[in-house]
Amino acid sequence: MKVLVTGGAGFIASHTDVELLQAGYEVVVLDNLYNASEEALKRVEKITGKPVTFYKEDIRNEAGMEEIFKKEKPDAVIHFAGLKAVGESCREPLKYFDNNFTGTINLLKVMERTGCKNLVFSSSATVYGIPETVPITEDAPLSVLNPYGRTKLVIEDMLRDIYAADSTWNIALLRYFNPIGAHESGEIGEDPQGIPNNLLPYVAKVAVGELECINVFGDDYDTPDGTGVRDYIHVVDLAIGHIKALEKLATNPGIVTYNLGTGIGYSVLDIIHNFEKACGKTLPYKIVERRPGDAAICYSDPTKAEKELGWKAERGIDKMCEDSWRWQSKNPKGYNA
Ligand code: NAD
Ligand code: UFG
Repeated sequence: MKVLVTGGAGFIASHTDVELLQAGYEVVVLDNLYNASEEALKRVEKITGKPVTFYKEDIRNEAGMEEIFKKEKPDAVIHFAGLKAVGESCREPLKYFDNNFTGTINLLKVMERTGCKNLVFSSSATVYGIPETVPITEDAPLSVLNPYGRTKLVIEDMLRDIYAADSTWNIALLRYFNPIGAHESGEIGEDPQGIPNNLLPYVAKVAVGELECINVFGDDYDTPDGTGVRDYIHVVDLAIGHIKALEKLATNPGIVTYNLGTGIGYSVLDIIHNFEKACGKTLPYKIVERRPGDAAICYSDPTKAEKELGWKAERGIDKMCEDSWRWQSKNPKGYNA
């Protein structure tokens, strides 16, 4: 079975490529390399000993994508390609609407025309907005906090409409919680450009000496230690969730939605202290203002994915921090050293 992976050179996708290849799928990657390096795909090939077919292409180029689909004839698509920086999406919403909406609409048109109607979509816990209660189940109310989140929610809505009009589609909406960690080989991992927006890559860059001090965004939340609580999930567990979703699509389920998280919440200080254990250093941090738009607590109820996909996250917080540290210390400058 052949899977076309949009954004396939990115962080979550490169780990998914490895799991796909190891499970016997053929992998075709389509990525414009806006936020990725081709080196990641070379490393995927090194880990698995299997080839990846790569096209440097943009999902906004409908004609270019159509050629690839006609040539490769994929059985299914995993659609990771997209921009994901919340702050940038507030400053440049059009850039996000163009890339994420236009790109996805083009992709769906090409899939429809070429008869490939099996899709796994990278959604996000951001579609729950500030959750009213935790743990969050898939039927919790949906809302939007920023333009990035709007792109995820509107694409989900679009996919629900498409399925309502044509039930020959099979679509899995996967709502990721907070992916961290790296492949245990230390060959692939998260490689953000510039100063990271997210906690874990920031902590890793402080540990490796590239940044000076971690800013903790608020310690006066209604949480056990006052800092924000999130559902961190090892990226390899998340990647395996995509294999399970593909297996589900093969049973013609129609449109299905799953939380991919661990169901466990850790605070910012928990993460810092676990990372200190992993890297064997004390990490400097200071408490600063809350970041606007942040929820106090966000964690999943992953029961539905366990029941219906037979998937459960297996890697704990120690492993997440150890694997992040192995990747960061082996590749202090990321892929482009
Ligand atoms: P990433 O930036 O590493 O991966 C995205 C990939 O898409 C990159 O390789 C980038 O070059 C590519 N891309 C972007 N625009 C493109 C375009 N127009 N045409 C072709 N390729 C394009 O990000 P990631 O963290 O691996 O996230 C993957 C997906 O998961 C994204 O859709 C993201 O919104 C979603 N997601 C991520 C998180 C997270 O915290 N990392 C959480 C929830 C959902
Ligand atoms: N935080 C800090 N300092 C930092 C960065 C983050 O204290 O430098 C705190 C935040 O306030 C929050 C926690 O660490 O309490 C996690 O923040 P991240 O930015 O790592 O992750 P978020 O939960 O805010 O958001 C991420 C993605 C969203 C996605 C969401 C759920 O950025 O796009 O996970 O998947 F929607």
